Amino acid sequence: MEKHAQLHKLIVENYTRAVRKEWKRHEKHDIEYKTTLYLLQRYLPKTGLILDAGGGPGRYTIELAKRGYKIILLDTTQANLNFAKRRIHRKGVENNVLDIVNGRIEDLSMFEDKKFDAVLCLGGPLSHVMDAKLRKKAVSELFRVAKDNAPIFVSVMSRIASICRLTIDPKFQRELAAPYFKNFVLNGDYEGGYGFTAFHGFLQEEFRALFQKQRAKNLRIFALEGFFYIRGKSTEQLQKKKKLWDIAWKTYLSLLERPDVVGVSDHFIAISKK
Ligand SMILES: C[S@@+](CC[C@H](N)C(=O)[O-])C[C@H]1O[C@@H](n2cnc3c(N)ncnc32)[C@H](O)[C@@H]1O
Repeated sequence: MEKHAQLHKLIVENYTRAVRKEWKRHEKHDIEYKTTLYLLQRYLPKTGLILDAGGGPGRYTIELAKRGYKIILLDTTQANLNFAKRRIHRKGVENNVLDIVNGRIEDLSMFEDKKFDAVLCLGGPLSHVMDAKLRKKAVSELFRVAKDNAPIFVSVMSRIASICRLTIDPKFQRELAAPYFKNFVLNGDYEGGYGFTAFHGFLQEEFRALFQKQRAKNLRIFALEGFFYIRGKSTEQLQKKKKLWDIAWKTYLSLLERPDVVGVSDHFIAISKK
């Protein structure tokens, strides 16, 4: 099996084992989730049909279906889709979820051109495409299925934030001596084996270039955690001090688009129009 296919298999196996963990990820990573919702609210049209590509167990699908959007959920991990189906039913939003599709963002040929009023690919599915050519293909597919002027939201994992974590957090420091580390700094590819599954850590400029190739309009890149990227106890404690947290949160939101804040963010998001 070629390397990319092998890594894809490992990624699917990882998410098959981690369905509940993935569903709960937004509690642990609440800053990423809240920032993403804040940006969706700002840039989504008021109504319409949305593709949630790589939507996993359906956190955004359910939230947006509750808000009245029509959604198609797509993911490559069947266990996530089975879980999503039960949650969608439990939340009573099945009328707004028009389809649940097992598929990959590299090949959206099940959808015709210009089908969707908005396209989402959130929380890193593009980082799990371990081949540079296929990442380009995936972005071109996300654009192909969007209507003209539809917003496209794609968030990925950051290479710099991963390197920061490895150097700062004692839990990960031993990985500085792991065989993969030097290459990861150079090319962003991590093939798994040390806790997390395979992913590509993006640099901002490389991410931006993928959208420029599609002639994306109004391209903007925002941090999704920014300087809260290492969410230790200190951030949790600050969140409990309402007045101080309000100031910190407003400050953080005002700096979301600064390239230095984007760079250290665990995840960053590109928002553009077709
Ligand atoms: C970290 S989860 C994000 C889930 C969801 N979008 C969110 O933000 O909560 C990554 C998801 O990407 C999916 N995935 C990985 N590679 C993919 C691919 N090539 N095409 C579609 N989905 C993929 C995984 O199955 C997993 O559900």
